[in-house]
Amino acid sequence: MTAESAAQPVPTLRRERQSAMYQRASRTLPGGTDSNFRAWGEDTVYVDRGKGGMVWDIDGNEYVDLRMGYGPVILGHGDPRVDDFVNERMRLGVSFSLTSEDEVAAMELVKELNPWVGKVRMTVSGTEATMHAMRVARAYTGRTKIVKFEGQYHGVHDYALISVGPNNMADLGDADNPVALAWGRGIPGEVAKTIIPARYNNIEFLRRLFEREGEDIAAIIVEPVLGNAAGILPQPGFHQAMRALTEEFGILLIFDEVKTGFRFARGGAAEYFGITPDLATYAKAMGNGYPAAAFGGREEIMSVLPDKVSHGGTYAGNRVAAAAARKVLEILRDTDALETIHATGRRVQEGVREVLDAKGMPFHFTGHPSMFSVMFTEQVATEYRDWAQTDHELYDAIAVGMHARGVMPEPDSREPWFMCEAHAGGDTVDRVVSAFKASLEHALDLRAQGQPLPHETEVAYSDPDAAD
Ligand SMILES: Cc1ncc(COP(=O)(O)O)c(C=O)c1O
Repeated sequence: MTAESAAQPVPTLRRERQSAMYQRASRTLPGGTDSNFRAWGEDTVYVDRGKGGMVWDIDGNEYVDLRMGYGPVILGHGDPRVDDFVNERMRLGVSFSLTSEDEVAAMELVKELNPWVGKVRMTVSGTEATMHAMRVARAYTGRTKIVKFEGQYHGVHDYALISVGPNNMADLGDADNPVALAWGRGIPGEVAKTIIPARYNNIEFLRRLFEREGEDIAAIIVEPVLGNAAGILPQPGFHQAMRALTEEFGILLIFDEVKTGFRFARGGAAEYFGITPDLATYAKAMGNGYPAAAFGGREEIMSVLPDKVSHGGTYAGNRVAAAAARKVLEILRDTDALETIHATGRRVQEGVREVLDAKGMPFHFTGHPSMFSVMFTEQVATEYRDWAQTDHELYDAIAVGMHARGVMPEPDSREPWFMCEAHAGGDTVDRVVSAFKASLEHALDLRAQGQPLPHETEVAYSDPDAAD
């Protein structure tokens, strides 16, 4: 581990090509990117390539990648086991709108690793998976409303973009009676009214809600940990109590395993927490970066397909995604990749813990060693509203500093660090910990001098009209 002192200047990243690309891209793509979440203004990163746990931007800056594409790249960038198989299969043709054996084999593997799943279908994105799971739940129960938790992200369809991640907790409304806060314009009020925001880890809130409106509620959709709020954890017994409550009221439980699936355990968060949901959505880790996703559930519920519920998609089950999922799931089943990932995450956590303990700073890890964050707080956060009480300005400054020192976490404290199998090799863990240490010391120095802390441009979270 290098012993960089806080007094040393922050290394400067090369930005010439990326600045030029930003100007060029902004003339064509809104924000210069294909996703609001990547639009970091003048700091927008334009990637050249990735290999294993590393990524390089077009200026040649090298980073340990802790974003891993927001989680999908579970093995590492450019994994030859997966890429060779996908290449071999894609030469047979990629899109037929007919069904290939790769799709069947991939979905058999989803079932094998999640034995409670009776039937499952592929989609192209996590967004589609949650959208279809919600529709299936509504069709099966004959009810309209869906409960979701504040601070949880289920993709970018209209039914998902409610009470996701405002900076200002007042926008979420009264704690006992939260409002359905649309994220951005263009979401019909009639759609928003069908989504009821709830508060994570608050079983009493849920009981009151179910007693009041349970007969209209088709399902509750939950990220098993708040994966888009630093991975805030369920309190002991929360999932079990929620499962019992949903059964009592005939409400379906949808586990959104887009981030946790095939990552927390081979059987995802359902296995990890010992819960059997009714429906689940998968994406990210099942494709190692290829656009594979799925929704599935109990046989009886999924039997509304194909006769009673619409689901389709020109690219659903396309060869590239299906072959990738087939190979990735085989690797996760047959090797100790997950154990390696979990162990690597624990090593990083130990290093970070040592650094913070030496400073006597209050902090908590959130999430799981394969996908975690660090929250600077005395009080353990139990719901999204608690994030506001954490010292996230310090986190954001550390993230900017790590970026400058060749390690790339998301520059927003709500997105966890993602571990992949390839991070286990070389000096990756030491690089992460030493960049964290130097960035922390620099940020604390700035604070001690009364200087403002740096942060990345927050385009995705800063729409002033989002609360309109
Ligand atoms: C929990 C969760 N659900 C759904 C989605 C949407 O997935 P996608 O980006 O593939 O549409 C995401 C994406 O980050 C997610 O984290």
